[in-house]
Amino acid sequence: MADLGCSSGPNIFLIISQVIDSIHGICQQAQFKVPEIRVFLNDFNAIFQSVPGFFERLNKAKGKMVEPCSIVGVPGSFYGRLFPTRSLHFIHSFNCLHWLSKVPPGLKDTNKGNICITKSSPGSVIKAYAKQFETGFSAFLSSRFQEAGTNAWRPNAAPVPGMEISEVDWVPRDKDDAEFQSGHYLSNIVPAASEQMISRRFGDAVTDSLFIKYATNVEEHLRHQNNGKLLNFLVSLTRK
Ligand SMILES: C[S@@+](CC[C@H](N)C(=O)[O-])C[C@H]1O[C@@H](n2cnc3c(N)ncnc32)[C@H](O)[C@@H]1O
Repeated sequence: MADLGCSSGPNIFLIISQVIDSIHGICQQAQFKVPEIRVFLNDFNAIFQSVPGFFERLNKAKGKMVEPCSIVGVPGSFYGRLFPTRSLHFIHSFNCLHWLSKVPPGLKDTNKGNICITKSSPGSVIKAYAKQFETGFSAFLSSRFQEAGTNAWRPNAAPVPGMEISEVDWVPRDKDDAEFQSGHYLSNIVPAASEQMISRRFGDAVTDSLFIKYATNVEEHLRHQNNGKLLNFLVSLTRK
């Protein structure tokens, strides 16, 4: 299996555990031998330190039942080919595909110096971002189509093919008390996913002040909006 865009975890470890549990369940029921599992990660700079701890927990939970499970790094962007043809049984990617492959071309003169969509951005900028997403998403699907095997063994926990859309609060509701500062909450979790990438490009010096500014802006935004919402699209596909 492969998880693309895993960042520093721990979500990926949850997914691997669920896949292993499903496979074990199926094997026990059908009296099959448990297969060896190999997990490929393409976004591994931050996660490899946590891998030994994961294996320790897995061995404690499963004991001798665990057939070798290895974790392998495969460098490269998920917007291109990463694996040999028809070599994978299960491909997972969570919370990643909204990261575009590049800034859309031609924005320099039209987007008033901004590198994102702002209130003052003209319609052409929004179209350019949508087009860039379409190009990247098509490249992602076409690469995964070539890498996925036709005889894919779908664990029974995998969602059936289809799409679900759900609304998620920016800030969990159970944290919504007077003491709790939502901007600071978000400024702790957002760096976990983006700090490395920002500091690689702009240097360590800017990241602390950037996230303090981010926390203040989010706090200000949420004061007017009560609580922001995110839309999650869950898409599940099998290869025919
Ligand atoms: C918000 S994090 C999601 C992390 C993880 N999947 C999770 O749910 O906890 C997005 C990750 O996608 C990675 N990413 C963005 N664009 C990528 C690309 N083209 N190829 C590989 N990884 C990419 C980033 O490095 C970042 O770690």
